[in-house]
Amino acid sequence: MEFKGFDKNFNITGKTAIITGGANGIGRAIASLYLEKGANVAIFDLKNNVEEVAQELNPKNAIGVKCDITDGENINESLKKVKDRYGKIDILVNCAGVALLDDAENLSHEFWQKTIDLNLTASFKMCQKVGNIMIEQGEGGKIINMASQAALIALENHIAYSASKSGILGITKNLAFEWAQFNINVNAISPTVILTELGKKAWAGEKGEKAKKEIPLGRFGYPEEVAAIALFLASDATNLITGENIVIDGGNTIK
Ligand SMILES: NC(=O)c1ccc[n+]([C@@H]2O[C@H](COP(=O)([O-])OP(=O)(O)OC[C@H]3O[C@@H](n4cnc5c(N)ncnc54)[C@H](O)[C@@H]3O)[C@@H](O)[C@H]2O)c1
Repeated sequence: MEFKGFDKNFNITGKTAIITGGANGIGRAIASLYLEKGANVAIFDLKNNVEEVAQELNPKNAIGVKCDITDGENINESLKKVKDRYGKIDILVNCAGVALLDDAENLSHEFWQKTIDLNLTASFKMCQKVGNIMIEQGEGGKIINMASQAALIALENHIAYSASKSGILGITKNLAFEWAQFNINVNAISPTVILTELGKKAWAGEKGEKAKKEIPLGRFGYPEEVAAIALFLASDATNLITGENIVIDGGNTIK
């Protein structure tokens, strides 16, 4: 693909983006910023209020689809709704995830399986289904997978979560390699603790205070800061970046 320049305000006007897990936290902040930058947004989320969230964010350019992304049939029906409404899909952000924490000696099979099923398998399923649509459309695309600092360093009680997020880095690189020929960029974002429902729960109390002190920049992150990277990666400014993992961690993983 030739270099055709890019919008220096990082607008993604007229693009259609699917954001999984977008009813809350990081996904919701990404949906909000993408809408501000001119995209049409479809939020796929388990939450019953997903349609209300979309209406609240932007009644004209956003739809909320109640979807369990661990269920392939449910994904197919949801993707049909997006195609019917917007006609195409340009951007996928895989944000739905769980953090089920326990030490390695005691972690239950249930916690392990739920984590891998949602964070890794369902994210891959979304990539595969949307990737096939992008390939058929023939106009390239952008896929952004939410990994974590837990893919890069060991964290207490994070064994299953870490395995799932390391897997995300693996599929990101492989998909980037396989789909470069279709101009589909596949990248990951690895945040430190971000102050969302999930982040606050996993890092409550003394444990969180201690972790914050160990971060060179001395603080946790905000969903809006992760959204800014997701916008950069969705924009034409990053057409030559693929298979990359952008770490937003206040320097936590450089020590
Ligand atoms: N918050 C953090 O500290 C942090 C740090 C690093 C990475 N991450 C990653 O970022 C992503 C978003 O995290 P968050 O903190 O915004 O989480 P969150 O809990 O605030 O939001 C996650 C959303 O995913 C949805 N979801 C859960 N299961 C689903 C399913 N089966 N199908 C569809 N939707 C489903 C939930 O309903 C929820 O709206 C996750 O992948 C998480 O692992 C978070």
